[in-house]
Amino acid sequence: MTGADSLQAALIAARCVHFAAVSVMAGAPAMARLAGPGATDGDGDGRRVGWLVAAVVALASGAAWVAAEAGQMSGDPADALRPSAIGDVLAHTSVGHVWIVRFAVLMVGLALGLWPQGRRWLSARAAVGLAAAASLAWAGHGAADEGVRGWIHVLADAAHLAAAGLWLGALPVLLVLAFGPPPRAARALAAFSGVGPALVAVLVATGLVNGWLLVGWGPLAALAGSPYVRLLAIKLVLFAGMLALAALNRLRLTAAVAREAEAALPALRASLAIETALGLAVLAVVAALGVTAPPTSF
Ligand code: HEM
Repeated sequence: MTGADSLQAALIAARCVHFAAVSVMAGAPAMARLAGPGATDGDGDGRRVGWLVAAVVALASGAAWVAAEAGQMSGDPADALRPSAIGDVLAHTSVGHVWIVRFAVLMVGLALGLWPQGRRWLSARAAVGLAAAASLAWAGHGAADEGVRGWIHVLADAAHLAAAGLWLGALPVLLVLAFGPPPRAARALAAFSGVGPALVAVLVATGLVNGWLLVGWGPLAALAGSPYVRLLAIKLVLFAGMLALAALNRLRLTAAVAREAEAALPALRASLAIETALGLAVLAVVAALGVTAPPTSF
């Protein structure tokens, strides 16, 4: 494996961890807020520490992401470990300026996580998490276009990232609740079932916009040969799996848990655990997708 290959692998790993951390920062407090006081009272500090860990992981993986990009931009992988080269990227490139703003948002997140407070700060945490997730649009392919096309792309990407964060970040909270008192789990599931379809609709609509701008409508045979399109196809298969489990939770298991908790909870736990694992797999695929040249760039 060459230095450039290891750097690419390190960049993809940092992107994947970062996507997961900002998803938790956005979705976990939003889900706790949505589930209502009855569903999450009594574990405020556990929740705050979990969010604090997500903020620290987002900061560390963000730093690794920028460092790896510094090595890729200069063509010398060793620059990924040179503070001066990383400083140059932050100070003298547009993506560097985006990261300076993003690091500031994550630092606000860190402060919010360090400072003990009650439920009323859940919205503030969710807002910081959403800003951290959506602002990634300016660090990806979405920022490559200009003019009206550029605005359509970056705003679609920002909405895509926000919806992805809210869905994936809510799953760990639902999974923890599925191991608690059944009435709380049923209440939280019912609350999430109210917003889940809207998140899916935003993801599909903005995903199609991204797909149109990055893949285009070329002949299928030519597109099938593109590594980018193959990665996107894998992502859509994983997404279909998540959708099927989300539908099972919404249409079957939510009512079953409310009706006959002991019998239904094991199935719910398994479904949520698999949905979360598929969500992490989607993030691993988009971590590679975002650094792969899309067909329209040719
Ligand atoms: C659970 C569902 C989904 C999650 C968690 C998810 C997550 C993401 C993330 C994190 C990115 C940003 C990548 C980057 O900035 O580099 C992204 C980009 C993208 N997503 Fe999704 N997405 C989901 C569903 C979809 C669907 C349903 C479609 C298509 C209909 C789609 C199409 C795309 C495309 C084309 C991009 C652009 C990638 C690029 O910048 O090159 N996604 N997605």
